[in-house]
Amino acid sequence: MAGLGRGCLIAFEGLDGLGKSTQLEYLRSWLLARGYSVTAVREPGGTALGERIRTLLLTAEVDPTPMAEALLFAAARAELLARIVRPRLAEGDIVLMDRYLESSIAYQGYGAQVGAKTVAALNRIATGGLLPRLTLLFSGRGFSDEPKDRIEGRSLAFRDRVRAGYAHLADEFAHIQIVEADKPPEDVAAHIRRIVEPYLEPKGEARG
Ligand code: TYD
Repeated sequence: MAGLGRGCLIAFEGLDGLGKSTQLEYLRSWLLARGYSVTAVREPGGTALGERIRTLLLTAEVDPTPMAEALLFAAARAELLARIVRPRLAEGDIVLMDRYLESSIAYQGYGAQVGAKTVAALNRIATGGLLPRLTLLFSGRGFSDEPKDRIEGRSLAFRDRVRAGYAHLADEFAHIQIVEADKPPEDVAAHIRRIVEPYLEPKGEARG
């Protein structure tokens, strides 16, 4: 498999409540211990504007239309790419993203029924066409018992559409690899390391 070249973008995707953020942190620590430069960001957020948009989107105070919601996620993403992701990739970092454009296609495109093509088109503009080298798609039951935010609190039908959306994306794109998340966290972490390892450039000075 191709090496990283200059920088490598790895996205963590899937329904809520599958342990993505925990696994991202495990992978980040593992890569750092091996001497890689790693940047970790979350979406929406990661910039001053992005965090403001996150608050708008995830609290119940405003109830944007699905299209406005898709545009707000895309705006937060454009900001994050320009200010952090692209510069870090140019420096040769491994950039780990807790969600990326596949979330918008699955949640807004399929879940909120804006349409996958429409959301993909918006995101091509917002991202300049930057796709992840690898997307780890967490698969499993998903959603915590207690919804943590406005989007997580949506209906079962919404969740089923999101799940189906992710499945379509996984069929369509070779960079998306499935991670079975209904397993002990250490097993999931080991699986993720096996998936990621072929993408890594050898590190002479690496420890462990
Ligand atoms: P996140 O903070 O990742 O929540 P969790 O840790 O519970 O997975 O994401 C917040 C919510 O925003 C989540 O329900 C998914 C949703 N979301 C979208 O609907 N579209 C998007 O483009 C992104 C990035 C997130």
